[in-house]
Amino acid sequence: MAQALRVGVAGLGTVGAALIAQIARQREALAARCGRGIEIVAVCARSKGKDRGIDLKKMKWFDDPVALAKADGIDLFVELMGGSGNPAKAAVEAALLSGKAVVSANKALLAKHGVALATLAEKQGVALNYEAAVAGAIPIVRTLREGLAGNAIQRIYGILNGTCNYILTRMEQENLAFADCLKDAQRLGYAEADPTFDIEGHDTAQKLSILASLAFGTKVEESAIYVEGISSIQPADLAAADELGYRVKLLGVAVKTPKGIEQRVHPTMVRKDSAIAQVMNVTNAVTVDAEGINPLTLIGPGAGGMATASSVLSDIADVARGLRVPPFGRPTARLTSVKKAPMQRHEGGYYIRLQARDKPGSAARIATRLAEQDISLESIVQRHPKEAPDSEVKGGSVPVILITYATTEDAVRKALAAVGRDRVISGRPQVIRIEKN
Ligand SMILES: NC(=O)c1ccc[n+]([C@@H]2O[C@H](COP(=O)([O-])OP(=O)(O)OC[C@H]3O[C@@H](n4cnc5c(N)ncnc54)[C@H](OP(=O)(O)O)[C@@H]3O)[C@@H](O)[C@H]2O)c1
Repeated sequence: MAQALRVGVAGLGTVGAALIAQIARQREALAARCGRGIEIVAVCARSKGKDRGIDLKKMKWFDDPVALAKADGIDLFVELMGGSGNPAKAAVEAALLSGKAVVSANKALLAKHGVALATLAEKQGVALNYEAAVAGAIPIVRTLREGLAGNAIQRIYGILNGTCNYILTRMEQENLAFADCLKDAQRLGYAEADPTFDIEGHDTAQKLSILASLAFGTKVEESAIYVEGISSIQPADLAAADELGYRVKLLGVAVKTPKGIEQRVHPTMVRKDSAIAQVMNVTNAVTVDAEGINPLTLIGPGAGGMATASSVLSDIADVARGLRVPPFGRPTARLTSVKKAPMQRHEGGYYIRLQARDKPGSAARIATRLAEQDISLESIVQRHPKEAPDSEVKGGSVPVILITYATTEDAVRKALAAVGRDRVISGRPQVIRIEKN
């Protein structure tokens, strides 16, 4: 058998520790599948003394990840520290510059510096693999890069953040408020102490920026993404969605349009009978609409040590087998700049929930303002104050729920601004985009 692949791992937290345990458990199967053994020969983390529940005795310890990345005696550097800056960036660069393959699970690093790092990897003739950076255990990077290498992709969308999906599932199934579900998510370790990055959609946007590049052959550009989080979603929206045959999910969507590539992250209504609507709790899912295989949906665990380590290990196995493909599916010189389709020109159906003042003429005024923008309504649900739940009757106003036929973001914003000026509603309108699926 060929000489074992010698691996250095920087980062021994949730993912790093699970990876080392899994390599120990799968040692023989891995050697059989790859035609050579996989040996972790060196490791690095911040605190040497920490008990991590894994046996590190045979591995050389490094305090400095960059020193590990450059060290003689390793063939592959695995970065599992996280963060878009140093030491992760410096260590990955050092490994590539010294001619070593790199595997990373770091979406922040890939979203910010992915193209530059891929260019360096190509120049050095080494692999840069990052399957675990998007949707944990779901092999979506490989699917886009290799499985669909011959298909024109029209749209890709997914549930890419388990924390948000957990919160929306609990809110929907138990009629709970957002804040209560967030607290539970924090207690269970699904949400960080500062949950902003997850709940405001930025984590999803980082992952979407990588998927869009793989799907459309464009440079990774997180700033081209329109982002809205889930913190304004109320149980009333989920109940109304249910009545109308929908569920609300935080989706990252990238779609090719005649105006360019639309990339957006926002709460989205999806038909209840679609595959993605069945995805509950912390599970992730990605759907690809590609020529001839429309739709293809992959569903699975999006986070957790074992789930993420499984993707990291598949990347390591590829290096052991000597497989190397361009990190973004084509040489970086062939990645094009993103032609961004402006959000204002987004077309689709909309769910709009307004609190209409309970006075004569309010409903007619709202209808006029929508008609002025050529917005047609598929359905309108207006509850009389006596029929509406107490929670929805606020200071003499009643909920009105509108579902529009396809219209533009611009038209919806203009119509709602006019409705606001007319003083026929109280509070801010709730707007949720409907995704065709
Ligand atoms: N956890 C998941 O479910 C998941 C899912 C998908 C992707 N990822 C990605 O996987 C990567 C690792 O995540 P994780 O959850 O395993 O993180 P984690 O539990 O916080 O572990 C981070 C590890 O990096 C080490 N580290 C941090 N800064 C360091 C430094 N300056 N020098 C040396 N070591 C340093 C830490 O050392 P100490 O242990 O000594 O503090 C720790 O072992 C991240 O990029 C993350 O986005 C994670």
